[in-house]
Amino acid sequence: MANIFPKATNLIVLKALGGLLVVGGLVTVAIWYYFTPKYSRVGYQPVQPVAFDHKLHVSQLGLDCRYCHSYVEVSGHSNYPTTQTCMNCHRDIQKDNPKLKPVRDSWATGKLDHGS
Ligand code: HEC
Ligand code: HEC
Repeated sequence: MANIFPKATNLIVLKALGGLLVVGGLVTVAIWYYFTPKYSRVGYQPVQPVAFDHKLHVSQLGLDCRYCHSYVEVSGHSNYPTTQTCMNCHRDIQKDNPKLKPVRDSWATGKLDHGS
């Protein structure tokens, strides 16, 4: 019986296997590197000028997230509250607390306001 496949076909199988190994290796290396907590910066915490505490404002005071993150339901990105949002309360509450000085300064000068 004549050969259906020419002899060179054997080589193709080997090449395919070799290719798979290379691709598999690359995928492994990529996952190894890119899926690490270090790469995805788990736990990243920038230094903030104001020691804002969610626990106090949300759990204790019962503020709705949307009071501050007001665009969270209409935009693909959430927003940070404006100085004004904080000052709605802190105009009167804790108005001498040094922790709130950057907020008061921002309110007074109109600068440092990163909200939208
Ligand atoms: C009194 C205003 C206020 C309220 C209410 C509030 N936030 Fe925030 N949130 C902020 C401020 C200010 C920042 C930026 C400073 C910081 O990260 O601490 C922030 C940052 C965040 C961040 C990004 C940074 C981080 O800390 O992870 C997330 C996520 C977040 N808020 C989720 C929520 C959720 C969920 C709720 C409701 C359960 C909520 N916030 C309620 C003011 C608020
Ligand atoms: C709904 C009113 C309200 C809003 C809005 C609000 N706070 Fe407060 N905040 C409070 C109250 C009440 C306290 C606690 C007062 C106390 O413990 O006597 C407080 C306490 C604080 C303190 C002091 C915590 C400490 O340990 O001394 C900081 C700092 C602070 N808030 C930052 C912010 C910032 C920043 C914003 C805006 C993103 C904000 N707050 C918005 C009501 C508010």
